[in-house]
Amino acid sequence: MTVPLRQQWMIRHGIAPSDLAGKIFTVAAYKGGVGKTFLATELAYLLGAILIDFEWDEGSASIALGYHPEDRQRSIIIDAINNERTPRPIWAGDHEQPGRPALIPGHSDFEDRQPSAAATAKLLNAWAAELGTKYGRPIVLDTHPGGSPSTLGAISAANLTIIPTVFKEREMQALEGMLKEVGDYPLLMVPNMTSASPPDRFLTWAVRLSETYQVPIADDFIRNYAWLPSRALRMVNSSVDHAPVKKAAPLVASLNTIAKEVAVRCLATQ
Ligand SMILES: Nc1ncnc2c1ncn2[C@@H]1O[C@H](COP(=O)(O)OP(=O)(O)OP(=O)(O)O)[C@@H](O)[C@H]1O
Ligand SMILES: [Mg+2]
Repeated sequence: MTVPLRQQWMIRHGIAPSDLAGKIFTVAAYKGGVGKTFLATELAYLLGAILIDFEWDEGSASIALGYHPEDRQRSIIIDAINNERTPRPIWAGDHEQPGRPALIPGHSDFEDRQPSAAATAKLLNAWAAELGTKYGRPIVLDTHPGGSPSTLGAISAANLTIIPTVFKEREMQALEGMLKEVGDYPLLMVPNMTSASPPDRFLTWAVRLSETYQVPIADDFIRNYAWLPSRALRMVNSSVDHAPVKKAAPLVASLNTIAKEVAVRCLATQ
């Protein structure tokens, strides 16, 4: 089977894309605005995953990627839950889109219709297995900020949960609170929006949390890129489908390093 261009980096690192089929990656943090959607979207693309959007507001990955549901359109996720079947991704198979991961879009009704944590975990395990068999891909979940039932279920089902970690006071406090609750699950802190030399205080804090909860910190940190929030392109930064943007080169390099670490850690713990 030919390996799509977007996954050829894996081959260079000795990872077969099919090794990840059926795996569950969750991107979560209790604090809002730390880069969950950004990281989930980029990782889903690089890992060849199906992105499942568990966010229910305007900042969702579905909207960032240019998915515009008609008003009052039914939710693919809620329909799947109600009918006890696996949702079908858009932008997969013959409908693949350049620069975008396959997507199971989110919906504003999901806030009120989300299942309990235990029920979410159960259905995600079933969906990941079926989507893995059908499409040969893992799933990546983008979650709503905080510890809502769907987020906790997604963390408990995940082979690895990626936590964007921002070296600021309230963000680190929220991280500490999160680790107290879910610190026993397989987690990876990914420093995001960092300066060239993060303040010692926050580095020390992150290391203390890492040691206390046995949660590794990613090898690479993602720096703060001032142009990123105003970027309008609907394709991911790490897309191989558009011409490389020079200013994005260090970001894309970090994202590739982190995607590799995520894949390797997941495969090492199975
Ligand atoms: N490394 C970075 N450098 C600069 N800006 C970034 C970086 N990562 C994310 N951002 C920007 O920060 C903003 C928040 O990111 P994002 O929406 O991914 O966060 P979130 O955690 O998903 O937020 P929410 O909690 O609302 O879901 C966006 O404008 C995004 O482009
Ligand atoms: Mg988000």
